[in-house]
Amino acid sequence: MIDPQQALAILASADIIHPADTVAAAVDRVAREITVRLRTSNPVLLCVLNGGMPFAGQLMTRLTFPLDFDYVQVARYGQATSGGVLSWRVEPALPLRGRTVLVVDDILDEGVTLAAIRDRLLELEVAACYTAVVAEKMNGRRKPIQADFVALTVPDRFVFGYGMDVRGAWRNLPAIYAMRGN
Ligand code: IMP
Ligand code: MG
Repeated sequence: MIDPQQALAILASADIIHPADTVAAAVDRVAREITVRLRTSNPVLLCVLNGGMPFAGQLMTRLTFPLDFDYVQVARYGQATSGGVLSWRVEPALPLRGRTVLVVDDILDEGVTLAAIRDRLLELEVAACYTAVVAEKMNGRRKPIQADFVALTVPDRFVFGYGMDVRGAWRNLPAIYAMRGN
């Protein structure tokens, strides 16, 4: 956790990468892309907590076709702003065998998290696994997975807002910021 005064100082010195209206327009665009691909598949929208929460919530109100909702919680531990070991805290509750699943997360960085989720879903014998992220980090690395739907790209810096946190803070912001000096 972070001290609220420190959280305010981080926001005050941060660079805005995508203002709120840009994020909202990108979510609208992704919703249209998803609608074209999945509107007849009765998919399960699988939110990856905690970071995928704002995106999943706003995205699902723009998907006006039948779907089910469920969530998983996966965490990468380690240094505050990079890498770490993956751990499953909550597995899907709905039976997913034979279903089309749309995994919704905040950011595709190295891709370890999304790839691990996809592998678990394939073990559960889903019919198809699609992935959607608010942000893809342009880190120049080869990634084990590409997202099917990407709202926005972000530079190879530590970003926060719209689901992404700085040590627990600022997931609630409607815009995306990058930490200064990073
Ligand atoms: P990946 O496994 O490297 O793709 O990391 C994905 C997860 O790491 C995301 O779901 C985020 O929780 C976290 N993450 C990666 N980069 C950032 C960042 O710049 N800000 C906040 N969280 C991040
Ligand atoms: Mg996350």
